[in-house]
Amino acid sequence: FSIEYHDSIGSTNDRARELASEGMTDVVVLADEQVGGRGRLEREWSAPSGGVWLSLVTRPDIAPAQAPLYTLAASVATARAAREAGVDARIKWPNDVVVPVGDEGEYRKLAGILTEMEGQMDRVDWIAAGIGVNANIDADALPEGATSIRAEAGDVDRRRFVQRLLEEFDRYRGDLEAVVPAWRDLALTLGQRVRVERATGEIVGEAVDVTESGALVIETEDGRETVAAGDCEHLR
Ligand code: BTN
Repeated sequence: FSIEYHDSIGSTNDRARELASEGMTDVVVLADEQVGGRGRLEREWSAPSGGVWLSLVTRPDIAPAQAPLYTLAASVATARAAREAGVDARIKWPNDVVVPVGDEGEYRKLAGILTEMEGQMDRVDWIAAGIGVNANIDADALPEGATSIRAEAGDVDRRRFVQRLLEEFDRYRGDLEAVVPAWRDLALTLGQRVRVERATGEIVGEAVDVTESGALVIETEDGRETVAAGDCEHLR
């Protein structure tokens, strides 16, 4: 990967989309601060100086149905890099990197992933995987329910952290079959009672597994249901 660094930018994902549509690949847009950071579901994403805010552009030869594996790979890579930095990072389905609080499925959010892509029915053109990690950020500057590497384990060398994250991502994109098993190993959601909001309504039950494409399998009162995408809440 080549890295394009910015002290301050609107959103690294916006810049990544621009580079992708110019035909670039294997480039990472990295910033110390974002002033227009975007989260999932059109939420704002707080991204002050001290974090790791990056977007990775790649052009894999895959069908769009496989694209979620890239998002899972991004969360696995992020969680593994954070664990090396001394943080007990786990993954909340589908791709939030969190730190457990207690042992009933509660957590604080350490990092989030926002993947955007363009492509045809049968082939992906490009994927921009946006990864936001609360790295060297004071606890009192974080949004509610969030944590940082600084708060959990002390400051991390961001250069080294990014390097490890990219190495891990590179390994998993070259071995997509390893992604879901690695994801399972880090999952905080499996075994939890969950409520998942989908466009078509909510599902409540126990999260029992993920499929080979990363969809969540939920045991409900009326049997097993598989959910490909949605907002997931851990219940007690
Ligand atoms: C989420 O809602 O959990 C996803 C947050 C994704 C934030 C990252 S920071 C780098 C990249 N640029 C953005 O504007 N968003 C993503």
